[in-house]
Amino acid sequence: MSTYILGIESSCDDTSAAVIQDNVILSNVIASQKIHAEYGGVVPELASRAHQQNIIPVVDTALKRAGVAKEQLSAIAFTNGPGLLGSLLVGNSFAKSMAFTLGIPLVQVNHLQAHVLAHFLDKPGEEKPKPRFPFLCLTVSGGHTLLLKVNDYFDMEKLGGTIDDAAGEAFDKAAKILGLPYPGGPVIDKYAKEGDPKRFQFAVAHIPGLDYSFSGLKTSFLYFVRDNLKENPNFIEENLPDLCASMQYAIVKSLTDKVKKAFKECDCQDLVLAGGVSANSGLRDAMSDLARRYHRNIFLPPLDLTTDNAAMVAVCGYFKYQKGEFVGYDIAPYSS
Ligand code: KG4
Ligand code: ZN
Repeated sequence: MSTYILGIESSCDDTSAAVIQDNVILSNVIASQKIHAEYGGVVPELASRAHQQNIIPVVDTALKRAGVAKEQLSAIAFTNGPGLLGSLLVGNSFAKSMAFTLGIPLVQVNHLQAHVLAHFLDKPGEEKPKPRFPFLCLTVSGGHTLLLKVNDYFDMEKLGGTIDDAAGEAFDKAAKILGLPYPGGPVIDKYAKEGDPKRFQFAVAHIPGLDYSFSGLKTSFLYFVRDNLKENPNFIEENLPDLCASMQYAIVKSLTDKVKKAFKECDCQDLVLAGGVSANSGLRDAMSDLARRYHRNIFLPPLDLTTDNAAMVAVCGYFKYQKGEFVGYDIAPYSS
């Protein structure tokens, strides 16, 4: 008999609901909050309010698109952290009340594990190859940069992480310096395609081990742009593609250098990318090239499963459902 899971994601600025049948996506509805663009970043108070407005229509649409009645659901899985507390509370409270009303189990999901396990989702009619444990996973998003050795679905070992900004934050902050809208990653990616990545050099931090640091890079980018604007007020407009390509090159180089190092320390055959920044075309190309050179298999998430979505939450819930890992109504969200 099939298992139907409703997944709910509300950790940051996307309200999302998805229905899966076992590991197959039947619907994955995402309401992205546009309101933050004008502030250059996510405003937590506005995010919680928008989640509150979006949650019921988004869940309703997800069920309708899936063609699944709420009475057919086996369980409800929701992101319980890490993320913005006010945002998480909306998904947490909604999931609790719906599970209570339907009398079905409630499953809590860790947002970062969900990004990784998105690789175990299939679309209807497809059964794509899955990474094999243990695998090396680079999880890169707006809030996190993590190198993980994934031994099993819920056994993830941290090999390294950022000591300051996340990779996505570096993209978003660089975009802000250039006067580009939030989220900056996709915009930088777009301009970078027409630019010369070697035109400007931005120093990549040398941090010991498998850790990352992006705050120095951001500062050197800020000073570089500011100094050039003093000489030429049109510096950004005249050099936008090259600035984007050069900054992207520096971020991607930093990410690939550590994965290269991790290959020597970890015997994983499969390399997996996860999180919003894994949508970056420069990163996808560089990691594919690296995997080829080191004779590893690469797993890139489909673009619609890179950024925050509830299907990844639902599949995490599916694996926990199989283990009977449920939570009670006293469960509270956590921010970090
Ligand atoms: O995983 P995600 O949706 O949310 C978090 O869990 O943080 O990631 C969002 C981040 C943002 O920083 C955004 O700029 C970045 O992913 N991002 C990208 C691209 N698409 C999204 N960064 C670089 N290139 C992209 N194409
Ligand atoms: Zn995320």
